[in-house]
Amino acid sequence: MSTPSRKLDHIRLAVDASIEHSRRPLFELVELVHVAVPENSLKAVDLRVEFLGRVLSAPIMITGMTGGHSVAAKINCSIARAAAELGLAMGVGSQRAGLEHPELAYTYSVVRDCGGGDVVVVANIGAPQLAEGYGVAEARKAIEMVDADALAVHLNAAQESFQPEGDTNYRGVLAAIKNLVENIDVPVIVKETGHGIGLEAALMLGSIGVNYFDVSGAGGTSWVKVEYYRALTVDKKLAEAARTFSDWGIATLQATIEARWAVPYSCIIASGGIRSGLDAAKAIAAGADLVGVALPVMRAYSERGEEGIRELLETYMYEIKTALFLTGARNLKELREKPLIIHEPLRSILERRGVYVDLYLDTLRKRVTPGKWCKPGGRPS
Ligand SMILES: Cc1cc2nc3c(=O)[nH]c(=O)nc-3n(C[C@H](O)[C@H](O)[C@H](O)COP(=O)(O)O)c2cc1C
Repeated sequence: MSTPSRKLDHIRLAVDASIEHSRRPLFELVELVHVAVPENSLKAVDLRVEFLGRVLSAPIMITGMTGGHSVAAKINCSIARAAAELGLAMGVGSQRAGLEHPELAYTYSVVRDCGGGDVVVVANIGAPQLAEGYGVAEARKAIEMVDADALAVHLNAAQESFQPEGDTNYRGVLAAIKNLVENIDVPVIVKETGHGIGLEAALMLGSIGVNYFDVSGAGGTSWVKVEYYRALTVDKKLAEAARTFSDWGIATLQATIEARWAVPYSCIIASGGIRSGLDAAKAIAAGADLVGVALPVMRAYSERGEEGIRELLETYMYEIKTALFLTGARNLKELREKPLIIHEPLRSILERRGVYVDLYLDTLRKRVTPGKWCKPGGRPS
């Protein structure tokens, strides 16, 4: 199947099928503490955060989803307009189609026509393409295509394992990412696609100089589930295997904490199953700089178009604001300083994974202000 029709397939499934993990991202296992006397006004709560040399009005990024088809161009345009209007960041979907079929480049570059120069845009290429020989030249083309503020490299080994046409060769990916980190002019964000970057992967990526992570953990969209539906009609054995692995991965909250523990002074986006502003506030309190949202944005677009996207994001923003107000935090820095309860079994799981939870929370509170390590220029050596 050609890349453009695969893209359309993905959009249809995302909107119509049940493609989320049946396990949770684990936000129910952390609790922010209610303060009955917040001593602030809800309206005065400040959600701003620095990201890639700009200031977002709230810590939200609509992570990369689409491109490569005329339908995708319309979706990207609406996402860009909403992101620009609300002061949020956005990513485009994998740009392979635009790189291999230049006549499709407009389906990505439309984000600048619609969102203007100020919206923070993240370009996107896949790790399997790096293993096949994509390098600095292709990365630069992808960046130029959308005049990007950063480049996301997506890791999707789980998804590819269940595609009849899957690119399952990940040999050489780390060296290729290192080459990009060292030779391109914008930050490289390494992102998963719904199965999580945990301790081991974060350590490996940190050791080659990666400073930006989108953990994209388990608990939201499961790409293995998407491939399960696609395989059903063409390969029953592959479909059965995909069903077995449909909940595979590291839960989003666990991945966020593990990545922050592994590479403390880095920029961390928590995504995968962020389904409310309260989830977002918890993710940030637990160690993320900002959150990423994908599937709900696609579904909001399919139901109510651009207005639907705007409403969804405004609701998230209001909910994050309220969570800060009710914990007595005036801004994201103060949210980090508030108590955070980590319930069992998450605390034990983290300890068994080598995270000293009390030390982690103490360091986070004192040293890791949201956005502090999200500036271009990198972390201290
Ligand atoms: C329809 C759809 C298409 C996606 N396409 C891409 C893509 O091309 N590149 C990428 O890096 N991630 C892609 N993703 C993954 C998301 O960016 C995100 O990491 C993941 O879906 C988890 O977030 P969610 O639970 O909020 O959907 C896609 C997600 C969806 C729902």
